[in-house]
Amino acid sequence: MKKDFINLDNISKEDLKKILYFGKSSKENYLKDTDKKLSFSNKTGVLLFEKPSLRTKLSFFRALNYLGINPIYFDPKEVGMGGREKISDVAKVLSKMSDLVILRTFSQDTIDEFSVNSEVPVINALSDQEHPCQALGDIISILESCALEIEEIKLTFIGDGNNVATSLAKAFSILGGTFIHSCPEGFEIPNNHLDRINDFNKSSKGKFILERDPIKASENADVIYTDVWASMGQESEELKRKEKFKGYQVNENLLETSKAIFMHDLPAHHGEEISEGLVDHNKSIVFDQAENRIWGQVGVIKYLMNLK
Ligand code: NVA
Repeated sequence: MKKDFINLDNISKEDLKKILYFGKSSKENYLKDTDKKLSFSNKTGVLLFEKPSLRTKLSFFRALNYLGINPIYFDPKEVGMGGREKISDVAKVLSKMSDLVILRTFSQDTIDEFSVNSEVPVINALSDQEHPCQALGDIISILESCALEIEEIKLTFIGDGNNVATSLAKAFSILGGTFIHSCPEGFEIPNNHLDRINDFNKSSKGKFILERDPIKASENADVIYTDVWASMGQESEELKRKEKFKGYQVNENLLETSKAIFMHDLPAHHGEEISEGLVDHNKSIVFDQAENRIWGQVGVIKYLMNLK
């Protein structure tokens, strides 16, 4: 049966661990140069993006190249999925001519509808609701930097309860870590996702905590993580959000009082959710975190396409 990776709602702890293992071991082999590069597989991965991208596009190209899969990219202006062409028609065409589809869309509904109509695996490369591939690279980065199991990690996410926060909180709840969210009222992770997170936590013994005060939330944190206050598609709310998120900036003062490493999925708005230049702080791992996108994605592609 076709497998997809379009959200983190239905993935088991075992399968998530498998993906992370595939990613981490591929990186280790690559760095040791002992990996036999898979020979060109004559397979094609199509990337169809409705929104801009730097890290996701590049890291998917790198992951596909690494696996010997030919990448073909359609930029936001090209296809007009859901407008110029019906979503189901695009899914059926790509099923005939590709082996994997990687979608970045405004709406999660587009990915869900595409997946129902696709005969080849579909990966969510960011929607309004989730960014599950970011969570994979993030977990690999945390494991590398903290040398602890996720069950032992306390991550504090300061900022909007957006796609990045949702997928990371789900990954933490699947793996049994502690996820603390600090945000102003009205910017929580949506309830339908929180229900799923609470369900996962029941079996994994993970914890989800909402703490409005970012200083309290950061006490004893191993990781402090933030993301933009207005995501792609929310540009018209930028001014309003800047006002609401005052007091939620991650800056040197917060990092100095904490043992935590600092993470951000990028792009960052320097002077807003982070102080100017914080990406270069000695506690920041953001650029290694960006590079690990490759390995999380190698892991998920291997898993979906049953590659060894
Ligand atoms: N929350 C951000 C993540 C960008 C990688 C956005 O959706 O724009």
